[in-house]
Amino acid sequence: MTLPTLLINTEPARWLPALRAAAPEMQFRPQAEIGDAADVDAILTWKVDPALIDALPNLRLLYAVGAGVDYLVDLARTRPQLQIARVVDDAVTGDVATLAVAGTLQWFRDLPAYAGQKQNELWHPLPVRSTADTTIGILGLGRIGRAIARAFQALGFRVCGWSRSIHRMEGVSTYTGSEGLHAMLPQAQVLVCALPLTAETEGIISAQVLGCLPPKSFFVNVGRGLHVDEVALQAALDSGRLAGAFLDVFAEEPLAPGHSFWLDARVQITPHVASRTRPSRVAPQIIDNLLRLRTGQPLLNLVRPEAGY
Ligand code: GLV
Repeated sequence: MTLPTLLINTEPARWLPALRAAAPEMQFRPQAEIGDAADVDAILTWKVDPALIDALPNLRLLYAVGAGVDYLVDLARTRPQLQIARVVDDAVTGDVATLAVAGTLQWFRDLPAYAGQKQNELWHPLPVRSTADTTIGILGLGRIGRAIARAFQALGFRVCGWSRSIHRMEGVSTYTGSEGLHAMLPQAQVLVCALPLTAETEGIISAQVLGCLPPKSFFVNVGRGLHVDEVALQAALDSGRLAGAFLDVFAEEPLAPGHSFWLDARVQITPHVASRTRPSRVAPQIIDNLLRLRTGQPLLNLVRPEAGY
């Protein structure tokens, strides 16, 4: 039986050496050297042009290099011969959690205000907020949301979380459904979005949802830009409902020049850097799945297109 061929559609200079080192006998082809398109069984990708997918007659597997698979789900829904697998790496999960916590803590401990004071040689202590008096509400309790919850718990914050299906976590009040969301929001002095982007979650951070938060709360987004109604978010900042926001993802990336978020000192911005998969860590699991594909065994880390993640 021939070994499957994996087409590398993203950052070949990073991925090829790691994959070739892990399985020298396998066929890994950068897209620039695609050769006979009929040879390709699987594609390693981030965002992909549907025309490329349709030009690969024997393609069976979309392999996502990121945690979020929203770019691929619609492709697989309309092409039932395709499965989607994603790489899973605890280091990536931890990286997203560190950014969510860092983004929250810089606001919580007034670091931007003290940076401003330093510029003016000002010594002006601000009131210290207490973690025990502060509730973090996490949207999404998948692998990443749970890691974020644990990190905040370890610092002594009260933590609650909302997810599509109920997830029990020790010490975390968990909610589900629209009623659950509305029960959680008024407690969440910090709201962290760690949801997958699906038809159900697109635009979830709406004027109505933001309006349910306590006054002067803080919003963190390490999910997807399209979770947020950006006009509503700016309005919530302007009305004081939100004291600030920390955003790693945006509806349009890069964020457009002149966007109100660039100009608003209450908004901290990072350029979609919460995590970056390290090829050498995940090459063995990709190869394992390619071998499973060859022998017809069930694949690991499959995405459920019907759920959207
Ligand atoms: C990054 O946004 C990812 O989905 O991995």
